[in-house]
Amino acid sequence: MFRSPAAALLRRLAPLLSGGTVGSGSSTRRTLPPHIAPSVLFRFSSTPTSSPPPSSIGARDEEVEGDELQGAAGNVGPKLSISVDRSGLYSPPEHSHEPSSDSELIKHLKSIIKFRSGPISVAEYMEEVLTNPQSGYYMNRDVFGESGDFITSPEVSQMFGELIGVWAMCLWEQMGQPEKLNLIELGPGRGTLLADLLRGSAKFVNFTKALNINLVECSPTLQKVQYNTLSCEDEHDGDEKRTVSKLCGAPVYWHASLEQVPSGLPTIIVAHEFFDALPIHQFQKGSHGWCEKMVDLAEDSSFRFVLSPQPTASLIFLSKRCQWASSEELEKVKQIEVCPKAMEITEQITDRITSDGGGALIIDYGKNGIVSDSLQAIRKHKFVHILDNPGSADLSAYVDFAAIKHSAAEVSDDISVHGPMSQSQLLGSLGINFRVEALMQNCDEKQAESLRTGYWRLVGDGEAPFWEGPDDQTPIGMGTRYLAMAIVNKKQGSPVPFE
Ligand SMILES: C[S@@+](CC[C@H](N)C(=O)[O-])C[C@H]1O[C@@H](n2cnc3c(N)ncnc32)[C@H](O)[C@@H]1O
Repeated sequence: MFRSPAAALLRRLAPLLSGGTVGSGSSTRRTLPPHIAPSVLFRFSSTPTSSPPPSSIGARDEEVEGDELQGAAGNVGPKLSISVDRSGLYSPPEHSHEPSSDSELIKHLKSIIKFRSGPISVAEYMEEVLTNPQSGYYMNRDVFGESGDFITSPEVSQMFGELIGVWAMCLWEQMGQPEKLNLIELGPGRGTLLADLLRGSAKFVNFTKALNINLVECSPTLQKVQYNTLSCEDEHDGDEKRTVSKLCGAPVYWHASLEQVPSGLPTIIVAHEFFDALPIHQFQKGSHGWCEKMVDLAEDSSFRFVLSPQPTASLIFLSKRCQWASSEELEKVKQIEVCPKAMEITEQITDRITSDGGGALIIDYGKNGIVSDSLQAIRKHKFVHILDNPGSADLSAYVDFAAIKHSAAEVSDDISVHGPMSQSQLLGSLGINFRVEALMQNCDEKQAESLRTGYWRLVGDGEAPFWEGPDDQTPIGMGTRYLAMAIVNKKQGSPVPFE
């Protein structure tokens, strides 16, 4: 332990986190959860409060032998043949003038399918449902916490954001302590992780002075929540307006996509539970090869899954993903999820780190290999059917860390990819045990119980052994389900704690 220079940095930084008291993070309410509701659900499916309904395929999935898609799908590889379902398109019902109780989003989805006279991909469905500018799930509400649909690690305990701060400061030191640094967070939710990172690193003035904070957030509603969480204020200098976080004095900027963040400065990127919200394509192996799963309208105008009646352009991504897999891995799976958007954003991250220096930390629930059938919908801490009342439930899918690794490695020889390691290993190595002990020094028994619960949720595996409360409230650990991966410029050496 603590043998490399980077690890020595870590040993120095972790115990120095600002505010050795419970609740010195962004939210006393969060660090001291009044009680995490029995039904609170993380976005992995180990602790369903009800089982996820099967995402069954509709009646039109009759598979018919079709053309080999080697031409359309590129070099799929010897183990993979792709065929086409030619059972034809279902004619949607005649336009009705009956008043409809459908939400705007549902009307929109139905109109796309009707206009195309054919189904849409699961990826298109997911993208519209989550981020449609008018009525997407994330666009108009705060979806986190007990009163929302699910809970994430930063919302569980201040320790999470503080320790990601330790990771960022270690990398900044490895980068030679640049005087200006772009700190970018992808999908910041409520902004809680960043607020805890900034509070925890407040003593490291050279670090906080260097920061240009850039938040990549598509939701105008969540941008406002982030503005408040980061204690932002607008400052005016003549006609110029800039927004500053009063937590550290750093300027804060919002962007709808990573591409819009100005480049040219050394960069640290954090993405926590961002990749799992990106749209995935689903493919299914039939007796004659692979077909894409699509979303269509049934005769009663409800949504249903079908298999693509013709080759889809996305087969090219399936082909790409399969080239990174071994024949043994491919033989085992009957379904594959592919996330082209994750590949594209990984390439953008890699390009940026190659040209500007620095690194990225990606934490999410997922697998270091092909993901088969993980798409899930959660509403009010319960699993619901993926097609049920779209826009009213969160959709997310396991992150394919192997695909991220390959996408990064393909783009640049100047970066190195590390991990994935489990969240438990990451936070353990970054000093969560020291941190929880420091916080325990200054708290009452109720606070201590909350700290123990939060600690278990972050790094434990399965049900907490110390729990003495009601069974249905037993804290469930996210320590092994969540994985962390780092992509860094080789100039920086190995990032803590991935050596
Ligand atoms: C599951 S939440 C995670 C929030 C936060 N990182 C946390 O851990 O609490 C996903 C976040 O990514 C944002 N988001 C989802 N898709 C996005 C996209 N395509 N572009 C920008 N932001 C996106 C959502 O609005 C939300 O803030």
